[in-house]
Amino acid sequence: MKVPLHLTTVCLSFLFATLAIARAASIPPKIYGVNLGSWLLIEPWMLPQEWLDMGGQSCSDCSKCIATEFAFAQAYPNTVDATFNKHWTTWFNQTDVDQLVAAGLNTVRIPLGYWIVESLVDRRTEYFPKGGIHQLQRGLRQLRNAGITVILDHHALPGAQAENQMFAGRCTSSPQFYTPSNYHRALVWSGVMTALSHVDPAFETVASLHAVNEPIMDASKTPGYGTFQKNFVQIVRAVEIALGISVDQSYEDSKPPGVRSAHNVTEALNAMSGATNSFSGEVIQVLKDMIPIISGVAVQLSVNMEFNQHGLREQLKNRTPLVTNFMDISWQHNNPANPADAAIGPQTYDNHLYYSFGGVADPNEEAYLSHLCNLDRIEKDAALGNTPLWFGEWSLSTQFSATDAFLHKWADAQKLQYSKGAGWIFWNFKIEISARAGNTARQWSYMEGLRRGYFTLDPSKLHDPHVCDPYVRK
Ligand SMILES: *[C@@H]1O[C@H](CO)[C@@H](O)[C@H](O)[C@H]1NC(C)=O
Ligand SMILES: *[C@@H]1O[C@H](CO)[C@@H](O)[C@H](O)[C@H]1NC(C)=O
Repeated sequence: MKVPLHLTTVCLSFLFATLAIARAASIPPKIYGVNLGSWLLIEPWMLPQEWLDMGGQSCSDCSKCIATEFAFAQAYPNTVDATFNKHWTTWFNQTDVDQLVAAGLNTVRIPLGYWIVESLVDRRTEYFPKGGIHQLQRGLRQLRNAGITVILDHHALPGAQAENQMFAGRCTSSPQFYTPSNYHRALVWSGVMTALSHVDPAFETVASLHAVNEPIMDASKTPGYGTFQKNFVQIVRAVEIALGISVDQSYEDSKPPGVRSAHNVTEALNAMSGATNSFSGEVIQVLKDMIPIISGVAVQLSVNMEFNQHGLREQLKNRTPLVTNFMDISWQHNNPANPADAAIGPQTYDNHLYYSFGGVADPNEEAYLSHLCNLDRIEKDAALGNTPLWFGEWSLSTQFSATDAFLHKWADAQKLQYSKGAGWIFWNFKIEISARAGNTARQWSYMEGLRRGYFTLDPSKLHDPHVCDPYVRK
């Protein structure tokens, strides 16, 4: 049989792709994942004893004591970096990576604060630990070596995007994210993370960038968020086009000539900022403003930026565009912007579903399973263009005291339902085991759920594939 020429080419490029140092990152056909919560962004409730041992405090109103990274860094300016560095090396290390692999998980979502790009912090008024970026690079290298796909999640944004939440890095009743200057910083952060994902070999398995974790749900309180969504996608794509990663032909054609002849990343970004007909004025400004910042980070992480050195050109040829990722449109009410309107190239949507915070179903087993087994979020979102959809946060937590028998079902049913979309990412990979943490791990830790047998050893399997059958309304 005569093999058609194009097939030979496909085989050859496959061969080269496998031989090359850097392979293209990709989202697995079905995501079975966990969040690496409280690693580079601490939420003290997940490690209450360690937090106290570090020098933190616990209080019912998190704005009133040392209950966030901001408050901690403000209280301990001289020791904060060393204290956090110890946490970063112990909370997530090779032992944890090995456990993820043994559990058959294929994806992690990594919550990050904007302060991981250190020069974005205004240190006259903002306080955060430094050095996390080195730990991110270290962890990503370990995840890459394990073949685990990574979603980088902008979880705590400049000015804080959520009210009175430890996960925003700073507890405040008046979040300041929804302002032009903080949107701008978030866009610079996104541009820097995009560049690093493609240029730093440690970031090889980074496949997606999540724009904003859990913004305020009332869209009337998030002015400008729709415009931000568009600028977010544009900056990701502008950086990629500057790096020679092809995304969309109409943008390819408008590439300024200087981009092709650039010798290094900064030169290419600078040339790209001439593409004023393709990108918004804000995005052009972000391209300019990110140049000194990505240069600084590259020095900090010893990342090569010269196209002709260390095979960077070849590495970039193997990269595919990042999947831009947003909370789905149903996260907000009051006439929200539709993130689908922002898409250029591959994009996905994220739904978070916690029954234990109320407002979803009555607090009993029957109501939980009836609601879950008839979930229509994937279809409803798809009708608004928000597809593919993954469930980027969920847990086994309940508003009632749950039996082991129920938690087996509860784990099965959630995995079953969320797998009908792009897959699921549990919150969280681990929780501190201590007297102070009490029972938290039982319903919030994947590793603990696995030890207790709520989760199957193979995440694609269920104890009972028919778990939902009695609850499905015909
Ligand atoms: C990871 O950190 C834990 C402490 O949380 C420690 O017991 C373990 O030895 C560390 N693993 C590696 C490979 O360093
Ligand atoms: C990039 O190249 C330009 C021009 O050759 C040079 O001035 C600049 O220092 C280089 N930047 C980096 C980060 O290597």
